[in-house]
Amino acid sequence: MLETLSPQLQDKILELIALYRDDPRPQKIDLGVGVYKDASGLTPIMRAVKAAEKKLWEAEKTKTYTTLAGDPGFADALIAMILGAGCANRAAAVATPGGTGAIRQALELIKLASPAATIWLSNPTWPNHPSIIKYLGMKMAEYRYFDPASCGVDFAGLMDDLAKVQPGDVVLLHGCCHNPTGANLDTSQWAQLVPLLKSRRAVPLVDLAYQGFGDGLDEDAAATRLIASSFPEVLIAASCSKNFGIYRERTGLLIALGDPARKAITQGNLNFLNRQNYSFPPDHGARLVTMILQDAALTADWKAELEEVRQNMLTLRQSLADELRRATNSDRYDFIARHRGMFSRLGLTESQVMALRNRHGIYMVGDSRINIAGLNARTVAILAAAIAAVEG
Ligand code: LMR
Repeated sequence: MLETLSPQLQDKILELIALYRDDPRPQKIDLGVGVYKDASGLTPIMRAVKAAEKKLWEAEKTKTYTTLAGDPGFADALIAMILGAGCANRAAAVATPGGTGAIRQALELIKLASPAATIWLSNPTWPNHPSIIKYLGMKMAEYRYFDPASCGVDFAGLMDDLAKVQPGDVVLLHGCCHNPTGANLDTSQWAQLVPLLKSRRAVPLVDLAYQGFGDGLDEDAAATRLIASSFPEVLIAASCSKNFGIYRERTGLLIALGDPARKAITQGNLNFLNRQNYSFPPDHGARLVTMILQDAALTADWKAELEEVRQNMLTLRQSLADELRRATNSDRYDFIARHRGMFSRLGLTESQVMALRNRHGIYMVGDSRINIAGLNARTVAILAAAIAAVEG
């Protein structure tokens, strides 16, 4: 049997981990996979997470199963954090292994409910979106998103393409901090997009993996909240990997908003999908998140540390834009300071990306996406000088 398998293409983001690890050059810089790092290069365990783990170790009496949907307290706490109050009667939800698990279960739910639906993806999007859709044998289409000339959003192209959405099609939107580009819709653009998608009778699927990394915890949920209050049905795939820094704990939530009268049936289908794919979802990370969000002191400390993380990335953005002004004697990289979240697509060619890797030991994804948090006060100038060198 196994002899029939052919090699799989490596994931373009994850393959960088091994390439970077195997590079012997001490001055190498890792701007690949989206993991937050502090100035010393460590991905820290957040203070509130450590405190919750200690409390949990002392208080936890059993490791028996939770429910197929996970701990209901986790769903309640995360729904309140994402959507605020008032959605509970419309929201069915299941805990999932990370945000990827939530995306996967969202797509499985769509496949169950509406197998012929087309899933519309931004061009570009996180490469695992089309990969999972293709693996599930579902239909997909692309809408324009990134304008290489300005490194901002091609909003006219986006609106043109999404005007072609058919009733019942699913439109995958990044709730904030677009991955891979870092370019985001502003409030007035969301306010134009929502009525267009409503008029097309689309179903939004919001990928919310970086809440708190862009403009703030509530600000980053604003588009998702607008969508939630505007459409009869919305799917939201949320990740706690980044904003709680619990990557390996695999902590995510899929929320399905719909008709309150149909909530129990939707919930039953979400539970069924969990059962088919992995039965009970992981609980450790979800429990930590719940403990933090249910305790005022832990919440305050977590929010404060998340804000430090966000400010650190904003500072790195500004200093990289400043250094690139100096190094290239132009303002063409000023967009880096306007982008939000963990990533910016720099607009370099694939051969420039390879030159940065081969000549300078600087690792980024082939489309020139950098992880801003992979930089620090020392490496910003090194990156800027290297970019100027490969441009020339
Ligand atoms: C990324 O885009 O780097 C992260 O979301 C990690 C991943 O799984 O790709």
